[in-house]
Amino acid sequence: MKLADNKATLSFSNGSPSIELPVYQGTIGPDVLDIRKLYAQTDKFTYDPGFLSTASCQSAITYIDGDKGELLYRGYPIEQLATNCNYLDTCYLLLNGELPDPQQKADFEKLVTNHTMVNEQMQFFLRGFRRDAHPMAVLTGLVGGLSAFYHDSTDINNPEHREISAIRLIAKMPTLVAMAYKYGVGQPYQYPQNHLSYAGNFLRMMFGNPCEEYKVNPVIERAMDRIFILHADHEQNASTSTVRLCGSSGTNPFAAIAAGVACLWGPAHGGANEAALNMLYDIQKQGGVEKIGDFIKQVKDKNSGVKLMGFGHRVYKNYDPRAKLMQETCNEVLSAMGLEKDPLFALAKKLESIALEDEYFVSRKLYPNVDFYSGIVQRAIGIPVNLFTGIFALARTVGWIAQLNEMISDPEYKIGRPRQLYTGSPRRDIKR
Ligand code: ACO
Repeated sequence: MKLADNKATLSFSNGSPSIELPVYQGTIGPDVLDIRKLYAQTDKFTYDPGFLSTASCQSAITYIDGDKGELLYRGYPIEQLATNCNYLDTCYLLLNGELPDPQQKADFEKLVTNHTMVNEQMQFFLRGFRRDAHPMAVLTGLVGGLSAFYHDSTDINNPEHREISAIRLIAKMPTLVAMAYKYGVGQPYQYPQNHLSYAGNFLRMMFGNPCEEYKVNPVIERAMDRIFILHADHEQNASTSTVRLCGSSGTNPFAAIAAGVACLWGPAHGGANEAALNMLYDIQKQGGVEKIGDFIKQVKDKNSGVKLMGFGHRVYKNYDPRAKLMQETCNEVLSAMGLEKDPLFALAKKLESIALEDEYFVSRKLYPNVDFYSGIVQRAIGIPVNLFTGIFALARTVGWIAQLNEMISDPEYKIGRPRQLYTGSPRRDIKR
């Protein structure tokens, strides 16, 4: 952190002495006021529910400029990564800070590939779940359960343990997500195949069966890989902050990542792609494009509780750059599969164009986010709606683990312990 030339002065209207707060500069983005000594100096806390103005940490991994609609992983724009690199390059970059050279790339791919299998006992653990369990319920359990299998990588304070648990998590998530899917549909699990790419192997574990050879379609493989890249990290979002807070207690990495999976499940976060696709289905059932006007009216009515899912973002107040790339992938996949005239895609594009011209959305700076189109792509690939958030969790695991490892390596790291403004009853005595 670099100290800025200026300082902030906090003064009080009741005559209490004013104090000076140091100001820090990042490489880009807003400066931050250092309020760590505020309580000691003034006996006051700050109040910021939802972290609207609070930087909870310093981080060198991902940067978002919400007004420009810009997303950078380690400084590289998401558009360049999505077109020039694959997901494992992106993982290497997020974990290590630099893109791999050819040797590092080959070594990293080999390392991840050699960890794709999960302990055979995991399938018996899975068997305890109902077949109709939501895959996110299953995944929360399975990811947390990894801590019971890999005792040699659970010490978060040991850099070697952190490194191997990162590789294990990245390598095993596709296997676990595919197992959760196969269990739900009653098909045999497919073991990973090490000659396939990360995305190709995942597709085969999802859609292959023991009765015939599965051929990976390169367009779908690329689309899957792009979905993974676009979801790989997104700085201090709710699930990442959950992983950091959970990991700050010193718990093991698998437990911290399981907390991230649980947080991601919510419809305001990772569950939004599932909710967005279900919303499109509903509009289509009610009459399709003709009914968009009625639907938008409902969305604008505060009492209806209806939201335009896949629209709006806490940070992007301009078009989400991932949504543009996802729309491009959507076009590619649908045309490769002969689904150019897919009514749901047509409905999504019409809904988007209407919303983008509507004063309600314009004045609130509500634009499509990545989830608006990712559901349509995944549906075309054959991924069931209730697995969308599981795919997101798979892709985000690298971001969570990179952020967790960054936090543990930070000499300023402390257990996370927010304060509160207490509004309950003052002290009172029981009178009986
Ligand atoms: N549809 C209708 N109105 C909306 C929407 C929406 N999708 N999103 C925000 N608004 C309105 C709010 O009602 C509010 O209006 P008001 O000022 O008249 O009260 C205004 O826009 C500001 O919204 P907030 O809820 O204050 O914005 P916040 O930053 O807290 O919320 C969030 C962001 C949670 C993403 C919200 O936009 C939302 O619920 N969107 C739909 C769910 C979604 O797509 N989530 C995916 C997020 S991206 C991701 O996780 C990958």
